[in-house]
Amino acid sequence: MAGTVQQDLAVQLRGRDFIGLVDYAPEEIQYLIELAVELKRKHKAGEAYQPLKGKTLGMIFEKSSTRTRVSFEVGMYQLGGHALFLSKNDLQIGRGESIHDTAQTLSRYLDGIMIRTFAHRTVIELARAATVPVINGLTDLSHPCQALADYQTIYEKKGRLQGLKVAYIGDGNNMVHSLLMGAAKLGVNFAVATPEGYEPDEEVLRQCKESAAKAGATIYVGADPKEAVADADVIYTDVWASMGFEAEQREREIAFKNYQVNDELVKYAKKDFLFMHCLPAHRGEEVSEGVIDGPNSVIFDQAENRLHAQKAVMAAIL
Ligand code: CP
Ligand code: NVA
Repeated sequence: MAGTVQQDLAVQLRGRDFIGLVDYAPEEIQYLIELAVELKRKHKAGEAYQPLKGKTLGMIFEKSSTRTRVSFEVGMYQLGGHALFLSKNDLQIGRGESIHDTAQTLSRYLDGIMIRTFAHRTVIELARAATVPVINGLTDLSHPCQALADYQTIYEKKGRLQGLKVAYIGDGNNMVHSLLMGAAKLGVNFAVATPEGYEPDEEVLRQCKESAAKAGATIYVGADPKEAVADADVIYTDVWASMGFEAEQREREIAFKNYQVNDELVKYAKKDFLFMHCLPAHRGEEVSEGVIDGPNSVIFDQAENRLHAQKAVMAAIL
């Protein structure tokens, strides 16, 4: 990307929320991916980069987390700033204080707020009332930080994004929504196979198809895993029962039993396919041990890139 274009993008990202890839232009997403690659290089070379000295990020968690919590906290530290872990149960919102008042109050102390919550509208409400940027650390609708790190990972491994094919097998959940939106913006062809009744959200699909048409990419949604995986460069899956859906575990195990990514299924993909999973994973359910622990798996590169991709987001918007 040429220098002046990058400077313009840097200016246009400052102060923005990061709630969904839907709000970001293709060149802005590409810019964040390239920045993430550069921040990773700097970090590995031992070059300090601390544009956020004196800044504090609040991290509100309503659900468990390993990767998101640690990568945001470490990322903020590496950028010269500080991160505060705020469990929803310990905040007054846990006792009924409104999102509005919480957002207004926290904005007086913090330079940014990251939130992981159930209802997507909570993040929207928080962002509306906050006067500092808000970052979506996962809702029931989407997980844009993970998708950004994942496209960074694919870009690093394959050297390009446009024209590749990603196949997603499993639940039509938050993860596939963000992956679909990223693909649609970046010109990646995307195929989804879910059991009937577990398809991605219709409105999300409509928006993705609109963006994909502009980028010249295709989106396929069906029920046949083999068809989805045919000639894929990447096979992605996620847990059958996401956080908040634990009570449906048994019925989901039955509904998804033919949707495991295993040695038999991956034969239909390209030889050099990447296997991806946002983690945490359930070996023996959505993926066999042979595949997730096999030579094509890049799951820990994805996990690592959460750090670099989120550093790029924070450095750009805070
Ligand atoms: N992939 C991901 O978001 O992991 P955590 O739930 O551990 O944060
Ligand atoms: N779909 C999963 C992703 C976890 C990172 C969940 O929401 O539980």
